[in-house]
Amino acid sequence: MSSLTPIRFAEYDPKSLAEMIGRVAVMVTPEGSMDQAARSANRLAKGAIARLIDSEGFKKAKAGDVISLSWPAGMQAEALDVLVLPRKLTPVETRQAGAKLVRGARGKRLTVMAGSMNKAADLALGMALRDYAFDNHKSPKEDKPEGEVVIASKSPSELEAACAPLLAVAEGVHMTRDLVNEPANVLTTTEFARRIEGMKDIGLEVEILEEADLEKLGMRTLLSVGQGSDSPSKVAVMQWKGGAKDAAPLALVGKGVVFDTGGISLKPAAGMEEMTMDMGGAGVVAGTMRALALRKAKANVVGLVGLVENMPSGNATRPGDVVKSMKGDTVEVINTDAEGRLVLCDVLWYAQERFKPAGVIDLATLTGAIIIGLGHENAGVFSNDDDLCNAFLKAARTEDEGAWRMPLGKAYDEQLKSRIADMKNVGGRPAGSITAAQFLQRFIKDGMPWIHLDIAGVASVSKDTDYAPKGATGWGVMALNRLVADKFEAE
Ligand code: BES
Ligand code: MN
Ligand code: ZN
Repeated sequence: MSSLTPIRFAEYDPKSLAEMIGRVAVMVTPEGSMDQAARSANRLAKGAIARLIDSEGFKKAKAGDVISLSWPAGMQAEALDVLVLPRKLTPVETRQAGAKLVRGARGKRLTVMAGSMNKAADLALGMALRDYAFDNHKSPKEDKPEGEVVIASKSPSELEAACAPLLAVAEGVHMTRDLVNEPANVLTTTEFARRIEGMKDIGLEVEILEEADLEKLGMRTLLSVGQGSDSPSKVAVMQWKGGAKDAAPLALVGKGVVFDTGGISLKPAAGMEEMTMDMGGAGVVAGTMRALALRKAKANVVGLVGLVENMPSGNATRPGDVVKSMKGDTVEVINTDAEGRLVLCDVLWYAQERFKPAGVIDLATLTGAIIIGLGHENAGVFSNDDDLCNAFLKAARTEDEGAWRMPLGKAYDEQLKSRIADMKNVGGRPAGSITAAQFLQRFIKDGMPWIHLDIAGVASVSKDTDYAPKGATGWGVMALNRLVADKFEAE
């Protein structure tokens, strides 16, 4: 597993600039005014920063840009990173600047001369988010150096305290990315459950429900998805009890299809390898629970994930099979590739029956159609509750995670009518993401505030983003953590 590069918080001492090794970052404003450390570095480097500021190139520099001066004269450092930072900056802009700063510095020592900068914690969060690589499966290079990040501050212990909850969230994001990036021969249902059980160490209560338990509970729709695989189906339950004893928890429910071949309704070969990320919803639930536990959130939150593998075999569910959900409703499985909703409907029902939650949020890489609708910039947000939905949208905006509300509506139910069962599992091509959400809504009790997040387009992407290299993004951990802080946390 990858882990966060440790950040050391050191005393701000511009006099020691000459001896610093690795990369050293100092700040100047777009107008060209240098802070104390920049002035010191400029003096050591015989006016190099002043000449940079006078150059044509500097006029085009935007907030958050990093201009690197290699092997500066008068310093031991291999590079002087000049960070262009206006005095007034939003937390998101600051975070983006931190992410840019660390991009070129992986595996290096980087000392950031933050001084008395008041948004240094956001800068640190941006650095922690971007400082990620999934290289578990690359043969190790012998001389690969260990990176180190030092933030030099005028009040290092205060800054360290301010950073702690943010870095806890970054750790949750990294966990989600590790899970989503992991290939399916490594991240089996059993291995996923094992990694979740590992979070007992940080104070989560964890239970793993095995196939026999699920059978007893009547989760036949979930089991029908996993029955073609040699990996056993499981439901993992994670409880964080940081809130008042009697406060109903928020329930987070995740789709954890560790690999989605489509089953008997087999997917085409091209791009099928991407379906290692079909446990993305479960990955976000696990990462969010990690973040909440690490920062000791004062809220009650329960995470439930359905872990299955969708494979074709002699035991696999056939198109045309009818299965009964835990709720009791029957489903005609028209297409075994519409498996996510079959997993979620049982876990959603179980979550409500057992925990009587204050609200339910499910996350799933549910439909290709949401990618057609929203691309890779926004997750689809479906909800029966304007208050909860608006709170989530606000949290996502604050955390710079794209989210866009989509409609629900009775009229779409027509598309889910089955000739022989209570419903079928697909609604045809029109509004494919909405009919999937309508299917899920049938398993939400009356009056239960609920959000469904279709994250098929945002869980893993083929280009670098502001905060992550290509591959898993960890989308949702920060927004959900923020929602918990805003709406569910006691003072
Ligand atoms: N896991 C897929 C959805 C998906 C597609 C996720 C692309 C990420 C990227 C889901 O199980 C699926 O196969 N959905 C089908 C539903 C259809 C059969 C109604 C789809 O979207 O084609
Ligand atoms: Mn599928
Ligand atoms: Zn799927």
